[in-house]
Amino acid sequence: MITTELKNELQTRIASAITNREAAVDVMKAFQAHYGWLTDEAVVEAAGLLGLSPLQVEELATFYEMIYRRPVGQQVIHVCDSISCWAMGGETLLGHLSGVLGIKPGETTPDGLFTLLPCCCLGNCGEAPTLMIGDTICGRVTVENASKIVTPLLF
Ligand code: FES
Repeated sequence: MITTELKNELQTRIASAITNREAAVDVMKAFQAHYGWLTDEAVVEAAGLLGLSPLQVEELATFYEMIYRRPVGQQVIHVCDSISCWAMGGETLLGHLSGVLGIKPGETTPDGLFTLLPCCCLGNCGEAPTLMIGDTICGRVTVENASKIVTPLLF
């Protein structure tokens, strides 16, 4: 269950939207921040707040790749695999991070710290290859500076 304070905050957000669906991503992200991922319980709770069915929330959740319908690590690293980043070495970057973290893309480290996910365009194509850790976008990421970005978070 979310707190009354968060519930009130989300009801205000929903009331300010033109349609309830417009507020759905914000609501799902808030539940995700609360639970760590969008649990089945969170889908039902979000649906109740939004006046949608759980199935409708599920449909929205599975459309947005930044909404996680399974447990993820404390830090989620998204590595763009769309065309600009792919052309600028995104695949090599993903493979390197996979090696550094000791996990395959899509997996979470055994200590629960990191999840590594390939993703669609992050809107930072001019600075490809791009990755995102949490809400932070990092552009022109090389194998060398990727280690500098990730390694301090490992300890
Ligand atoms: S293609 Fe990677 S950020 Fe757009």
